[in-house]
Parts: sequence; C-alpha cells; structure tokens
Amino acid sequence: MRRISHISDLHFGRTDPAVVEALVDELNGDAPDLIVASGDFTMAARPSEFAQARAFLNRLSSPWIGVPGNHDISPYDLVQRFARPFARYRHAIAQDTEPCFADGEIGVVCLNTVRRWAPEPDWSHGVIRRSQIARTEARLAAMPEYLFKIVVGHHPFRPPRWDEEARLVGRADLALAAFRRCGVGLTLAGHLHRHYARFALEDDSGAEAVDQGVMRGCRGRLLTVQAGSATSTRLRGNEPNAYNRITIAEGCASVSVRVWDGGGWVDAAPA
Ligand SMILES: [Fe+2]
Repeated sequence: MRRISHISDLHFGRTDPAVVEALVDELNGDAPDLIVASGDFTMAARPSEFAQARAFLNRLSSPWIGVPGNHDISPYDLVQRFARPFARYRHAIAQDTEPCFADGEIGVVCLNTVRRWAPEPDWSHGVIRRSQIARTEARLAAMPEYLFKIVVGHHPFRPPRWDEEARLVGRADLALAAFRRCGVGLTLAGHLHRHYARFALEDDSGAEAVDQGVMRGCRGRLLTVQAGSATSTRLRGNEPNAYNRITIAEGCASVSVRVWDGGGWVDAAPA
C-alpha cells in the first residue's frame, strides 16, 4: 500500500501564510510515502518566490517529486524565458523537469507540459510533444509490470464535467491513449485550480465510481485526477484551497480531497 499527497498550484508570491503553515503541519503530521507537486510553484517565477517554494519543500518530511507549471517561467524577463526558461526552476526546485520515481509498488513518470511561446495570444496553455509521448512510453515500459503506474503533468488531460470545452494540454488524447497502452492507472495534474477526477474517454462509462467522497480507479481503467490550488489566494469560483490524498492498494487508486475551511484542513464533503 502506498499513500500519495497530490498538491498543485502553490503559487508562492500569492499565498495565504496560514494555509501554508497548516499544510506543512498536515503533510508532516501524517506523512505520505510520496508528495506529488503538479506545477505552478510560483506566481511569476521571481527568485524570491522560488526561494519561498524551496523553503516550503525543505520543511516536508516525505520525499517529493514535481513538474514546472506555466507560472514557473518568467512572464517578464523574455530573454530568460526564451534562452533558459527553466533556469530558476532548476536552481530552486529541481534540476530535472521530468523526473521519475519508482519503489516496490508505484512508478511515477513526470512530463513538462510548459511552453515558452505559442502561436496564439495566450501562452499559458500547455502541450505534450510527440517526442515526449515516446519518451514517456519508453520510461513506463522500462518499469516492472507489477508497479501501479502514474503520469504527472501540470496541464489537464481531461475536462471537468461542468465544462466539457475546457482547454486541455495539447495532444491530451494521443498521450492518454499511449498511457493506456502502457497500463497507466492514474494521471495527476492541476492548472485549473479545480479538483475533480474523471476516467479517460475510452474508460468513461458516464458513471463516476464515487463512494463516500472517494473516487476509485483500478489498473486497466485510467483515472485522470485534478487538484485544486493548495495554498494560493488566486482561487476560481467557490473552490477552496484543496489537495488530494491518494491510496494505492491492490492495483487500485482511491482519491479523496482535503479542503481548507478557513480554519483548518478537513475532508471535502461527498459530492
Ligand atoms: Fe498553471
């Protein structure tokens, strides 16, 4: 059995200090086997913001793995954005923007979906290049078959049910098809600051496997999971700060959501 805490969109530079402190206590108080951080550690990739993110990571007692988000490359310093977009991320967070993790039960492959430029006005959307899909397939294939496999990116792989037109990471369909072929059971992402979980299109019967607020996905049926923003004051709609708690056991993933109620972290009310 493995326990994962999935945090996302921390956005240091625009966080609520009380939420940050309580999150550190919460994550360390019942330490998971792994923390996955699915991007947007900062607000605008400023060195001071990265320093705050690094200080947060240094306080965590569990191992962690992460990917950059679109906010983790500078929107102001265009020379840096184009020449060395991930230099600050590599310096403060992690040298590798696409790390892997494997132990005796789970295998995690990370994808960097951030673009420095796009042929459209909004450069915040993400994409997966064909070469990244091929590399991810090779990395997954190199892992033992019995591991429960997870892919992490910043931008969403599936839209929420309440917004079927939501912009997804570019080549989401191709990527999910490849992940399914590789036996991936779970994808973890953020960016939208909304938490939800949904099966990949081919595995989606329309009915969610939700019981008492816990979403369950099993190997052979790919579940795509989104996290809310764990610590940012930049929230969407009525969504509170949130993160996901995931338990992997016997080939299945159970996903529940923790939310900030204004005074502490509590279980989200069953949907
Ligand atoms: Fe983002």
